[in-house]
Amino acid sequence: METGKQITGTLAIAVFTAALGSLQYGYSLGVINAPQKIIEKNYARSLGLLSERLEQSENGTDETGFSESRNHPEVVMYWSLSVAIFSIGGMVSSFLVGFVGDLRGRVKGMLMVNVLAVVAGLLMGLCRIWKPHIMVISGRAVMGFYCGLTSGLVPMYIGEIAPKAYRGALGTLHQLAIVIGILISQVIGLDFVLGNDAMWPLLLGLSGAPAILQSLLLPFCPESPRYLYILLGKEQEARKSLRRLKGAYDPTPDLEEMKREKDEADKEPRVSILSLIFSSVYRQQLFVALMMHLSQQLSGINAIFYYSTAIFAQAGVSQPVYATIGVGVINTVFTLVSVALVDKAGRRTLSLVGLGGMCCCAVAMTVGLKLQNDFSWMSYVSMSAIFLFVSFFEIGPGPIPWFIVAELFSQGPRPAAIALAGCCNWTSNFIIRSLAGKLNQIFLFTKGKTFKEIAAVFQKKPGTPKDNAELQQLKTSTDA
Ligand code: GLC
Repeated sequence: METGKQITGTLAIAVFTAALGSLQYGYSLGVINAPQKIIEKNYARSLGLLSERLEQSENGTDETGFSESRNHPEVVMYWSLSVAIFSIGGMVSSFLVGFVGDLRGRVKGMLMVNVLAVVAGLLMGLCRIWKPHIMVISGRAVMGFYCGLTSGLVPMYIGEIAPKAYRGALGTLHQLAIVIGILISQVIGLDFVLGNDAMWPLLLGLSGAPAILQSLLLPFCPESPRYLYILLGKEQEARKSLRRLKGAYDPTPDLEEMKREKDEADKEPRVSILSLIFSSVYRQQLFVALMMHLSQQLSGINAIFYYSTAIFAQAGVSQPVYATIGVGVINTVFTLVSVALVDKAGRRTLSLVGLGGMCCCAVAMTVGLKLQNDFSWMSYVSMSAIFLFVSFFEIGPGPIPWFIVAELFSQGPRPAAIALAGCCNWTSNFIIRSLAGKLNQIFLFTKGKTFKEIAAVFQKKPGTPKDNAELQQLKTSTDA
């Protein structure tokens, strides 16, 4: 029966096309981790800092010379900048989501910003033609800027075109595409695929590829009917778009609902980010939206993604990189579970179960890591805790914050709310990334050291050559 509640081919294509932007975001989040050593080596080479011993050694296996070059303050600075600039780009551009989405519509907005992704991909993919460190940092900045926009535009578009009955499931596809992107980057970042000295620019450059496919498909996607009717007042076009998305059904009830929202929106001035922050009308929704994003990031999920290889190495896994890929697979499987559950179990239940479960796993992980030297079986506790932590994250706290903001707000304040929530997400992600790095250094570097030695680590003046070698060994296992 044609009820307007089924998933039509056009709706499926529109959601798939939008989610390519999320795939790109996930890929860019994950891609920088695996090839760190290779990129640092190339930075050192282009800065003229690569140890002569390494350049001369035919197979490039002079690990000591390599370490010296990688740890040169200039290389460390350019590397850190390559990582951090991505989040900074996202923090800045997430504020512009509302503006870009409203300017020419959601579909044209996504199309326009793809230029950024392609430019970023080219800068990184062609980084060998000039100074790789400058090219990669510029590419990452532009890519971060693109991802800040896309991480808001995609949930906004999907939230506006999804039929109510499937809004949760379709909204979760944004997160599903992110985790698939992370997984793809982990797999093709392996050294025997693209994470090697010859292919790493291609590995980074490929992050622009989904934008090309998305640009080819976007012209076939209907514009959001809510944008057409509520913002532009184009009823006929909205009706046409609804029919394309929902099949041959009578769109009058949907249009009536939109009309009520339009009347509301017309009564009040346009809701800017500032007015949203200070308005008492939206205070409760805004509080919920920001808390959901804060809890997603402050749960520490990205600390697991950035440091899982080091944690697995510490727990005694001989091939920690594969265990990290295992985390990526679990991550994807449980996001699929969430797609199936979210509209039946409800956002609140899944968020609470997810956060509660993550909390228990974090305790188990800490106990496991702390006691694994005394009881060898404890390493199984910490490893299982990591897998479960990620599973609990994906059933609720991972996907829900991304689409719930579009659901919590009506058309007027929606773009501003998505912008604020996105900025909150990117900023807390940046803080956790920096903090996790520091804490990781503190806990792994300072184990069994005297205060003098610890102080030396932080002043970057390690004392003896033995200290140097030992610290380097620890750092390598942390970075791996
Ligand atoms: C969410 C988070 C992102 C994280 C990802 C992991 O999308 O926003 O920061 O890396 O989940 O699956």
